[in-house]
Amino acid sequence: MKSYSIALIPGDGIGKEVAAAAWEVLEKVSARSGFELKATAFPWSCAYYKETGAMMPADGIETLRGFDAILLGAVGWPAEVPDSVSLHGLLLPIRKAFVQYANIRPHRLLPGVEGPLKARNFDILCIRENTEGEYSGAGGRAHQGTAYEVAVETSIFTRTAVERILRFGFEQARARRGKLASVTKSNAQKYSMVFWDEITERLAKEYPDVAVTSYHIDAMAARMVMAPESLDVVVASNLFGDILTDLGAAIQGGLGFAASANINPDRSAPSMFEPVHGSAPDIAHLGIANPIAAIWSAAMMLDYLGETAGAEAIMAAIAAATSAGIGTVPGKDRTETITAAVVAALD
Ligand code: IPM
Ligand code: MN
Repeated sequence: MKSYSIALIPGDGIGKEVAAAAWEVLEKVSARSGFELKATAFPWSCAYYKETGAMMPADGIETLRGFDAILLGAVGWPAEVPDSVSLHGLLLPIRKAFVQYANIRPHRLLPGVEGPLKARNFDILCIRENTEGEYSGAGGRAHQGTAYEVAVETSIFTRTAVERILRFGFEQARARRGKLASVTKSNAQKYSMVFWDEITERLAKEYPDVAVTSYHIDAMAARMVMAPESLDVVVASNLFGDILTDLGAAIQGGLGFAASANINPDRSAPSMFEPVHGSAPDIAHLGIANPIAAIWSAAMMLDYLGETAGAEAIMAAIAAATSAGIGTVPGKDRTETITAAVVAALD
């Protein structure tokens, strides 16, 4: 029997609740699909930081390196630990250290989910550069506490990273409906974004079967609301992709439905799967978090591991639950009710 080692990092707030739900579904699907998942849970979180002074141990990255994949709930508890500390201590270092350069986020309506738009038949795959750009962490502050204090944060765009994310986008477009939207702001940002556009244009020649359009980020934001059906694969930088994927989550009915995969396409280190949403301290412990985004992310993990049938079974089970109206309206059903409906549909 095939066996996979999974590092489980539930994290903070509703991350713990939805990670448990996703794991329950994974156990059910593995039992019936004939493969085994072995979880090792890590308590790395803001609570862990309060105890130890770090979000994960100094050898945390090396510990994770040996796993086949990482399943993460959510990180952050700003009342206790500043987000800038918790995210730079756990989530962001994992993405960078394991070169999970492609952050893949699908946006489509599940059956039974209303969504705020009239459009219903959109199927967008956002691909976000996940290692550099506006999230490079290059910068500093000077003259702190004085009237002339200054803060500098520099975006970094390297040919290697821009080229590989665009190439990844072209490949995805080729495997889907053959359309690629490249998102920049090259009318205002004349170095990095013009550089990105140039690389897009050059790569387009290698993919004559893919129809490429370059959009500015502001126009893309409007298009995702006004004409989402016109989009197939959308590739964007780290920050632009972050913003667009919350918009994508909104048009698919809310953050409770938005799944994501942080992929290392070379498979030189583990990839990580997590819902797009955060730890939601306001509803933590209430038992009303929607686990669908985390369960869908778990399906993306199985797909990545090559357990395609298991991934499809989870997606079908989610669809069975939402078709029956379970988990479709934010706050209506409890986490356990939605999880139970998905698990039951796997029978
Ligand atoms: C996301 C989140 C993170 C990001 C935060 C928590 C740092 O918003 O995964 O979309 O911006 O990448
Ligand atoms: Mn985000």
